Amino acid sequence: MNPSTSESQQRERLKTVVHASADAASALVAADIAALIRQNTAAGRPTVLGLATGSTPVRLYRELIRLHREEKLSFKKVITFNLDEYHGLPRTHPESYWRFMHEQLFNHLDLPAASINVPDGTVPRADVFASCRVYEEKIRAAGGLDLQVLGIGRTGHIGFNEPGSGRDSRTRLVTLDALTRRDAARDFLGEANVPRHAITMGVGTILDAKRIVLLAWGEAKARVVADAVEQPPSDALPASFLQGHAAVAFHVDQAAAGELTRVRDPWLVGTVTWTPAVARRAVVWLSQQVKKPVLKLLEEDYSEHGMADLLTEQGPAYGLNIRIFNEIQHTITGWPGGKPGADDTHRPERAAPHPKRVVVFSPEPSDDVLGMGGTLRRLVDQGHNVTVAYQTSGNLGVPDEEATMAAELVLELDRASAAFENPGAKFAREVRRQLGAKSAFDGDTPEIRQLKGILRRGEARASLQACGVDAARARFLDLPFYERGRYRQFQIGDADVAALVTLLREVKPHQIFATGRAADPSSVPAVCFEILRRALTQTSGDPWRAACRLWLYRGPDRNWAPAEIEMAVPFSPRELTQKIQAIYHHKSQRSQSPVFAAGLHEAWQQAEHHNRAIALSYDALGLAEYEAIEAFERDPA
Ligand code: F6R
Repeated sequence: MNPSTSESQQRERLKTVVHASADAASALVAADIAALIRQNTAAGRPTVLGLATGSTPVRLYRELIRLHREEKLSFKKVITFNLDEYHGLPRTHPESYWRFMHEQLFNHLDLPAASINVPDGTVPRADVFASCRVYEEKIRAAGGLDLQVLGIGRTGHIGFNEPGSGRDSRTRLVTLDALTRRDAARDFLGEANVPRHAITMGVGTILDAKRIVLLAWGEAKARVVADAVEQPPSDALPASFLQGHAAVAFHVDQAAAGELTRVRDPWLVGTVTWTPAVARRAVVWLSQQVKKPVLKLLEEDYSEHGMADLLTEQGPAYGLNIRIFNEIQHTITGWPGGKPGADDTHRPERAAPHPKRVVVFSPEPSDDVLGMGGTLRRLVDQGHNVTVAYQTSGNLGVPDEEATMAAELVLELDRASAAFENPGAKFAREVRRQLGAKSAFDGDTPEIRQLKGILRRGEARASLQACGVDAARARFLDLPFYERGRYRQFQIGDADVAALVTLLREVKPHQIFATGRAADPSSVPAVCFEILRRALTQTSGDPWRAACRLWLYRGPDRNWAPAEIEMAVPFSPRELTQKIQAIYHHKSQRSQSPVFAAGLHEAWQQAEHHNRAIALSYDALGLAEYEAIEAFERDPA
């Protein structure tokens, strides 16, 4: 146990600081780095920083740039060494780490070019070994790393030290793990384009740094963070080797802390304040742990699992069981827009007004039907006025082959209908030419993106129809942040927020459905949700807001724990089939989704698995056994 920690952190083997947000954590680490630089500069010493790329340190780098611009922090006496670089990419490639570092940080500072060191990914294979040795020698000659900044991959890698990397490994050429390549697929516009090899500092190189800070944001990192912090060190999880370092700290946001024992199961490691929400979580956890339905939990089950004080406060067991059972029972409804005329005291949604005006926000086309296709059908069938707003065009997610096929189709039509004027053919011919001229690493031209966006609009309309929703209810917002950006480097602008504000003021919804917190805070759904948040802040004084509720659904990348669910909409086997058929219409997305569980390659498989899993978890708690459930939580906003 880390000696400076409290009882609740007894399982943590290294210092872990949980921050309110990634921004707050980044500001703190930036201030720490600034203090170090100022101190060293004043003493006439250089500061040697080890730096990481990826989405995690972007906020930190923005803050360092701000400190340089606004608070005169000078980098003239700083020397930097980056952790890693893809092997075989030219420096100018949009995904090269050399380019990333220049765009995200170096170009905005007074750091001398000669003080910048990034492993050279362009050296031929035969020279890599020598080049890695030179890199290590350069670090030593600079006096060693004063502070190393790290992110962490879902495999537990630091730098590109994938599982299997030894504690003493040094800078070298490595083969990237399949999961790491899959995680990078979107950035590279396809997994096939992701390099197979990289050059990385070794675990031993990293451990030689005088201080180490590791940053992690978002739920997708929660599992690996908890393992690195709480499990014994092992080369199966290279980040766990950081436990052996004398001056290391993990700085994580709330979501990335979610699997630490003190956050997930606090009753196992200390005294707990038993709020209603914590009690519900604990009882559900206990039921899953002892594999008994809630109503069959005994006093001894509670006391043997660190929950005796819950019984003392809120027991006896049977009364507590019934209370929690009823709470969960009341989350189940076949009326997601509220049941007109019914007593709604214990229902998740209000009975009145009926019908309701509903806006469903879908970050990319297909998120809506994947997350809530069954509920969409219910809302429409039950008479509500539903608008489905697609926030982005989704064109970055369309493979070139699909665009080529679409262009060919238009050209074929043109040949078949020579008697008609066909202006679309000129556009299709141009797109086909541009696709032909494109290399694997090139981004898409505006015309290619436009065609890809048109494809996704067609799929979204067909999918909505299959959910029983009139396609005329679709609104395509094509938010500019997405049209300008690349994955993981999106920047929200005023126009993005204004587009949502306009739509919300026009519809004045009683219900909004949106994907809330995303597993990956740099993902499209996360950016889209932040835009919604800002739009809600701007409209907070509008009269319609008082009667508006915000419900959050999730993509298949995020599991639901039953205790988090505030509205559970069950559906029949037939409705599940209809939902799956609706997902099929997103043809361009086949084999595009990141694999989220063994063997589930297709988005429809993931959604089906997800909806069945929620139903099974309710069943196991002793509630009714349904075929499938779509789940929602209510946002207090
Ligand atoms: C990058 C690096 C990697 C990343 C890790 C997390 O230089 O060394 O270990 O820190 O893959 O990536 P993001 O931050 O994109 O989630």
